[in-house]
Amino acid sequence: MTPATSLFTPVEADLQILADNLKQLVGNRHPILFAAAEHLFGAGGKRIRPAIVLLISRATMLENEITQRHRRLAEITEMIHTASLVHDDVVDESQMRRGVPTVHSLFGNRVAVLAGDFLFAQSSWYLANLDNLEVVKLLSEVIMDLATGEIQQGMSCFDSSLAIEAYLQKSYYKTASLIANSAKAAGLLSEVSPEIAQHLYSYGRNVGLAFQVMDDVLDFTSTADTLGKPACSDLKSGHLTAPVLFALEEKPYLEVLIERQFAQEEDLEQALALIQDSRGIQQARELAAHHAKLAAEDIAVLPPSESRQALIDMTEYVLSRLY
Ligand code: IPE
Ligand code: IPE
Ligand code: MG
Ligand code: MG
Repeated sequence: MTPATSLFTPVEADLQILADNLKQLVGNRHPILFAAAEHLFGAGGKRIRPAIVLLISRATMLENEITQRHRRLAEITEMIHTASLVHDDVVDESQMRRGVPTVHSLFGNRVAVLAGDFLFAQSSWYLANLDNLEVVKLLSEVIMDLATGEIQQGMSCFDSSLAIEAYLQKSYYKTASLIANSAKAAGLLSEVSPEIAQHLYSYGRNVGLAFQVMDDVLDFTSTADTLGKPACSDLKSGHLTAPVLFALEEKPYLEVLIERQFAQEEDLEQALALIQDSRGIQQARELAAHHAKLAAEDIAVLPPSESRQALIDMTEYVLSRLY
């Protein structure tokens, strides 16, 4: 399921090693947890986050080969991401992920919560073993941020007064923090200057925000078959994302439908129609494009290389991706 573009070419061999390692890293301490974790790693995913870590590693190590620590950081990043998906699918009661049934729908909620915890714990252990305190601090903050983001999202369900700033902050916690902090950590492992490290962080933050806004657009514009996960599900669950927040400015009746939580027949269909009829989806795309552009500017501070070019292309890819 990796994107069928040349985007990953400079790190294709690295990603192959990563895919093999991920399954081994989970270990087989407990067969059920192992089966649950392996289920998702086996299904793949786009591997955008480890690709970014590896591309930054290569783009900041032009004279030398990347180290085992860079590779391990990429693996930890994908492990943390996968753990967050296992928990997110429990919270959202979602039945499909990466084109296969979710962990909780196969093994039950208890196992899914434990499997997610297990993956977080496992990633913390590998993180500590990198023996780099600064990197440990960056990535452990991510794990806090992920929980903060899920809680913020849960607290703001069906709240039509949600400001776009609050939505973006939640998106930072849920999605951009991992990409930002792992991007910076990759730079630190290459011993870049503090100034470059800050630009790498900002690149990851902007790519992450653009990625999440586009994920929220795709929830309205795509299908479950294409996405490998449910479509049209955010609004139903009361998750008010960028297209809805923009549409609310144009369509006051949308607020009425949301506030009564689509209690009456046809409410949801009517709300979807109002959103489709508004400029909300287009405005959300523009918001994503704004962050993608900022990301491209951030990464331009690195010296030119094939990997830097792939990181620039990544900012276009997040806007045009279909799943
Ligand atoms: C899904 O991330 C969760 C979001 C942050 C929107 P991805 O779309 O990267 O999921 P996989 O790893 O490819 O399955
Ligand atoms: C991102 O948000 C999920 C996490 C970072 C855990 P979503 O809730 O939009 O992710 P999907 O759509 O379920 O993949
Ligand atoms: Mg979800
Ligand atoms: Mg989503």
